[in-house]
Amino acid sequence: MTENTSNSTPQSYGTATTAGAPPALLRMQAVGVTAGPRHDRKAIVRDVDLAVGAGESVGLVGESGSGKSMLVKAAMRLLPSRVDASGDISFEGRPVLGFSRRELSAYRSRDVALIHQDPRAATNPLRTVGDFLTEQVVATGQLTRREAAEKACALMEEVGVTEPGHRLTQYPHELSGGLLQRMMIVAALLPSPKLLFADEPTTALDVTVQSEVMAIIKERTAQDNVGLLFISHDLDLAAAVTDSLAVMYAGTVVERGATNRVYSRPRHPYTAALLACRPSPTAVARLTPIPGRPVAAFEAGPGCAFADRCRFTTDQCRIQRPHLRPLEDRMVACHRAEEIADALEPAEVS
Ligand SMILES: Nc1ncnc2c1ncn2[C@@H]1O[C@H](COP(=O)(O)OP(=O)(O)OP(=O)(O)O)[C@@H](O)[C@H]1O
Ligand SMILES: [Mg+2]
Repeated sequence: MTENTSNSTPQSYGTATTAGAPPALLRMQAVGVTAGPRHDRKAIVRDVDLAVGAGESVGLVGESGSGKSMLVKAAMRLLPSRVDASGDISFEGRPVLGFSRRELSAYRSRDVALIHQDPRAATNPLRTVGDFLTEQVVATGQLTRREAAEKACALMEEVGVTEPGHRLTQYPHELSGGLLQRMMIVAALLPSPKLLFADEPTTALDVTVQSEVMAIIKERTAQDNVGLLFISHDLDLAAAVTDSLAVMYAGTVVERGATNRVYSRPRHPYTAALLACRPSPTAVARLTPIPGRPVAAFEAGPGCAFADRCRFTTDQCRIQRPHLRPLEDRMVACHRAEEIADALEPAEVS
């Protein structure tokens, strides 16, 4: 993998802008998501603070079920019925949770865009690729049908799709997975959004196509100063394409900071455990699985949600929930972060 060693990482580290800087595009403060019937609400996401600035790429990483997709759906106001968001979510300083229907429609069609995990599920097999790509921008009056088709063809060429004019007439089943995912990127970029949510955009693709697609997303967002919230369970992949990382566990962020710092020197035991249990493509390393199983936010007790799986747990960890707090160059939610720092150094590669 290519470690991100950029020095241009914004000081916000995915949480807040520095004094004098323009406001973050997207800002989430104390965001929670709950689900279920009124008498039995369950927490899915808890107390998340996160921000993405223009041109900034933020990675949201965590195991399956940690609440990544729910957080994105909350930010797009796309939560299913009986699932509600709380806290503050703002876009360019405007409250997303308070948007009227009209404001919401403008927000979803012009300000933000989502690249889905599964391109086949996001397309209608009975509609052509051309219809899929162009109908939203035409319906919202942003472009005429002809302008939309021309812009789609230009974008297709930029993301490496051959014969773009012909592609517009094809149906989704006629395209390979990699080609269809490129179409998803074209669809997301067509309205020229300011912020792109990419929810596991390459999970359905093989490794070679995966890195090509990621390179395209990275290049296009950087070129157009588009903010990127990249969601993945793959820490290596997220580290390769983001400026800052937020690591989620049991519905909340447990560590957040500049990607190269978090990746090279994790300060939360969960981040360190994630790094220790992934295979290295270049060297033979001892893999250390994380004991136990991930828990959902509503299953966590009063203390640290990671306590049952952590080798550093004390009585305090079991009874008192740690909150994100500044520690040197980042934010970390661990009572013992200072004491255990040396023990969290990434395992030696033999
Ligand atoms: N409609 C729903 N109603 C209630 N709970 C739900 C609903 N959809 C998902 N959940 C629960 O919310 C939690 C978080 O789910 P989410 O899809 O956000 O996880 P994720 O981190 O995106 O996982 P993955 O990596 O598998 O995509 C899970 O425990 C899931 O079971
Ligand atoms: Mg998900």
